[in-house]
Amino acid sequence: MVQDIVDKFKQFYRQEPIVVRSPGRVNLIGEHTDYNEGFVLPAAVNKEIYFAIAPNGTNTMRAHAFDLEETAEFDLNNVQRSEIGWANYLLGVVAQLQKANYDVKGFDVVFGGNVPIGAGMSSSAAVECGLAYGLNYLFAFNIEKFTLVKMAQKAEHEYALVMCGIMDQFASMFGKHNHVVKLDCRSLEYEYFPFDLADYRIVLCDTQVKHSLASSAYNTRRQECETGVALLQKHYPEVHSLRDATLEMLQAHQAEFDPVVYNRCTYVVEENLRVEQACQDLANGDMVAFGQKMYASHHGLQHQYEVSCKELDFLVDEAKKSQEVLGGRMMGGGFGGCTINLVKLAGIGTFTAQMTEAYKAQFNIDLKTYVAQIENGTSLVPIDFSKK
Ligand code: GLA
Repeated sequence: MVQDIVDKFKQFYRQEPIVVRSPGRVNLIGEHTDYNEGFVLPAAVNKEIYFAIAPNGTNTMRAHAFDLEETAEFDLNNVQRSEIGWANYLLGVVAQLQKANYDVKGFDVVFGGNVPIGAGMSSSAAVECGLAYGLNYLFAFNIEKFTLVKMAQKAEHEYALVMCGIMDQFASMFGKHNHVVKLDCRSLEYEYFPFDLADYRIVLCDTQVKHSLASSAYNTRRQECETGVALLQKHYPEVHSLRDATLEMLQAHQAEFDPVVYNRCTYVVEENLRVEQACQDLANGDMVAFGQKMYASHHGLQHQYEVSCKELDFLVDEAKKSQEVLGGRMMGGGFGGCTINLVKLAGIGTFTAQMTEAYKAQFNIDLKTYVAQIENGTSLVPIDFSKK
């Protein structure tokens, strides 16, 4: 795949590119906590977007989306949102660099990869982080990685119009081979935990549905959390986000809450506690306890936060029936995409066969499953041009 992208680049633009790879992500636990200044536990995986990229001596970005076979050109003196969906992820990054006064010169780029789109594995963050990393390298801006992460997140806000938290871009950029990373989304401190690959694998089950609610419901959930914070603040001025809230605070004022907002807030507070306990489980090597937290997380996402859907619930219920699984839950924003499952290595074949059969019988859809390998975050790919 990398070679095809490089070949396409040379065919189109007649020069040698640098190559960047930028991964999608999984999240073990800690869902809808990032924009509440809480904790998440993601990892970068072996589903990746590759970029071939080089300066072109003009003031134009010439871009080719390899998988869509579409090409477009943009004047860098006048960067704005485009009608072309995929181009916004690139333009959004350029706009952030320009806002911070970096002089982005013209460049050529071909990009493509195998992060499934709409599966909740953050293909958009992979694109944003890959381009940010590539331009930083190409034009020697010397921007530190965390700043690139924030620029990529802002690109998503302003050009893709999704008010996402920081998890996806962080995970894509800061992933580490065979480790999950616990991020404190308030302080931005992070800690890597080795993931036990001797006995277990992360298996994703892709529902292949994406319900149209997804982005509007995402923004509504954010507002409901803010409503909850405003209410708590009247009693506890020290509460600035749900990160500061406790279950006791919520319970003491339950009567003042709209029941829906109460459930949303309770979920977030409980999910933050679960991430901390799950990290303790990892440190203790107790994967059984870890798996139980994943199921509990799904229960909250289904009943309290209400971002699941019947396909996801079905897959989690089926996983619970399987001897091969320690835990599972929906992953990412919700309303479709994948479930993430912690599966015994020896049982992967049985598990995927069971799930595929059950899903087909229930929804008449062919389930896609991926065994995720945990990889490093966004990086340069050494290319040996002497071979060509
Ligand atoms: C999407 C967002 C993330 C995060 C998750 C839910 O993936 O991009 O910032 O909020 O949903 O945990």
